[in-house]
Formats: sequence, structure tokens, C-alpha cells
Amino acid sequence: MAEFIRFDRITKFYGPLCVVENLDLGIDKGEFVSLLGPSGSGKTTILMMLAGFEQPTAGTILLDGVAINDVPTHKRDMGVVFQSYALFPHMSVGENVAFPLQMRGMGKAEIGERVARALDMVQLSALADRRPSQLSGGQQQRVALSRALVFEPRVVLMDEPLGALDKQLREQMQLDIRDLHRRLGLTIVFVTHDQSEALTMSDRVAVFNKGKIEQIGTPRQVYDEPATRFVAEFIGETNLVEGVVETVQGEEATVRLPSGVQIVSAISGAVTSGQPVLLSIRPERVDLTETRGEARNVLETEVTDSVYQGDHLRVQLQNAAHPLIAKLGRKSREFQPGTKVYAAFSARDCRVVAS
Ligand SMILES: Nc1ncnc2c1ncn2[C@@H]1O[C@H](COP(=O)(O)OP(=O)(O)O)[C@@H](O)[C@H]1O
Ligand SMILES: [Mg+2]
Repeated sequence: MAEFIRFDRITKFYGPLCVVENLDLGIDKGEFVSLLGPSGSGKTTILMMLAGFEQPTAGTILLDGVAINDVPTHKRDMGVVFQSYALFPHMSVGENVAFPLQMRGMGKAEIGERVARALDMVQLSALADRRPSQLSGGQQQRVALSRALVFEPRVVLMDEPLGALDKQLREQMQLDIRDLHRRLGLTIVFVTHDQSEALTMSDRVAVFNKGKIEQIGTPRQVYDEPATRFVAEFIGETNLVEGVVETVQGEEATVRLPSGVQIVSAISGAVTSGQPVLLSIRPERVDLTETRGEARNVLETEVTDSVYQGDHLRVQLQNAAHPLIAKLGRKSREFQPGTKVYAAFSARDCRVVAS
């Protein structure tokens, strides 16, 4: 795959406020990349610069190897979908979708064909004559999607497009968009603050914090191998336990907890002996046993609470130094508060992150 979009040392200031700092990011043709981060981390600003609605303060944006900083929005050939659908209320669905083609001066016959195809793509052909106000939220968002795709843009940019939809519809639309991406081979840059949405849809996820990328990788990498505390806490739920590195052996480190217990953990980046670190242990990777088993990492704990949550059992534990949460499969036995249990996990299911 060839690199298609490149942010080359992009910085953006609004007055004295630096909202994007020295961003280096490459996106391949046909790739689905999500920009994931909390509100205010600069995601929309990055998308606006790519679309041409905002100018970078410094740096270059390249599309297919060509600098586009000075190319006006309408010549960048990008389809854009926002959270608010921004459909024209006085036009029918078909007229809304035809609009970008009329703007481009396309002939009537070709417009008719393309609009039919674009509406078919999002299964709205039957509703072409309706007004937006006669559609549900999900249908309106599909019209917006169809309008962004109708001129066969080189890139599709989406800024929290599903934020206003209820959970069930949002999950359906996530799968629909992912399917369209695959079928049409689109290059998509997708902004969201919803980590499960980013994991579900993307080839790669760029996790943003305060205008900088904390980590970029496949959904599996950012979840299983968080590089920083921020990523470990922002994506999914995790236990963070303080310790000090004793020794490093290849891809693993031995970490001593304040209680004196030694834990063997996978490492992502460089760590050195004597370094204070945090261990990130995902709750669903923790096993609870009544007898001390063979596992390499074992913490002696006591159950403080246990809640049945339908698809899993959530058990709160306390050991000498810190609390711990375990999520067990729904077939797990119950654990009464006060029960002494061993919390066990493999070195692979534990990550050293910088503290
Ligand atoms: N037009 C603007 N003028 C001044 N500040 C802005 C403008 N747009 C965004 N900001 C500020 O830039 C920061 C990043 O905003 P934004 O890119 O919208 O983040 P996100 O999409 O991740 O929530 C925020 O602090 C926001 O208040
Ligand atoms: Mg935003």
C-alpha cells in the first residue's frame, strides 16, 4: 500500500493556544484510520486542516505526494460527514445527494445515475422523494453519507458522525460504514471519542492526548500493548499497579511491588532497572483461584465486592497495597465478600507502562 495522506510536522495554534503539536502521521490508500481522544484533544482541528477549512500554523499536508496547504477545500476532492447532518431541509433526499454533483457542473443524466447508485449504497432508494424532516436520525445520517460518497471522493472524512444516534443504531451504522469502506476501497479518516467505536471500525487507531499522538497501531496493539498510562486508561478498563523495575530480560521485565511481590511483565518500550513504573493489567485477564496455582504472577487478595453484570461477573479485590478489579466469564462461580483468593495472570497479560 502506498502512503496517501501525510501530515508532516503539522502544528496549529489558535491565538496563544497550541492545539496540535508537531503532528507526523501517514495514512495509506484504502486505509481506515480513527483519530481517538477525549474532547479538546485536537481531533476536529486535524480533520478541518485536512479538509481545508483550517490552515496549519506550520508544517505541510500532502495528498498523494503533493502539498495541498494552498489548495482550496472544493478542489481537495474529499467527502465530509459531520455529527449534525447538515442536510438542506427544503430539498428532497435525492436533491440533497445530487447537490455536490450540480456544484461540479455534471450533466443531468449522469447525475441521475450517480444519485441512484449512491442512494442504493445506503439502502435509501425508496425514500428519494422524502424531505429530511420525514426521516429518522439514522436515515438522515445515511443521506449525509450518501451525499459525501456520491462524487467518488479520494478521501472521506467523518467527524463523530454517529454521535447523535442511539446505541443500537450507532452499532449498526458502524458495521455499515465498515462494510462500505471495504467494498469501495475508500480511504477514511474517522474522528471519535468513543474507544469501542474506534476499535470496531478501524484498521489503525491514533490515540490523541492534548494535540499529540500518544500511540498509533491496530486495535489489538493499542488495547493489548498500551505504550503509555494515558492509552491504558483511555482504551478499555485497566488495573494500574505501581512498582520498580528490578531486571529486564528481552521482552519482559521483573517488577517489584511495594509489598515485595515480584511480577513478570511484558514491556513495550525501553525500561531500565531501578525505574519506577506502572503495571497495566486488564481486568478480564485476571483469574481467581482459591489455591495458589502454577501461574508466574500471583497476588494474595480478598474479595470486597462482587457484582453480576449479565455478560460477566465483576469482582472487586483488595490486597495489602492496592485494589484490583477482575472481570470473570458469566459462568464463573460467585465470590462472597471476605473470601481470600489468589489473583493470577500471565506475564503476557501484564504491561509495563511509564509512570
Ligand atoms: N476556531 C477556534 N478558535 C479557538 N480555539 C479553538 C477553535 N476550534 C477549536 N479550538 C480549541 O482547540 C482545542 C481542540 O479542539 P478540537 O479540535 O475541536 O478538539 P476535539 O475535536 O478533539 O474535541 C480546544 O481547546 C478548542 O477549544
Ligand atoms: Mg471534535
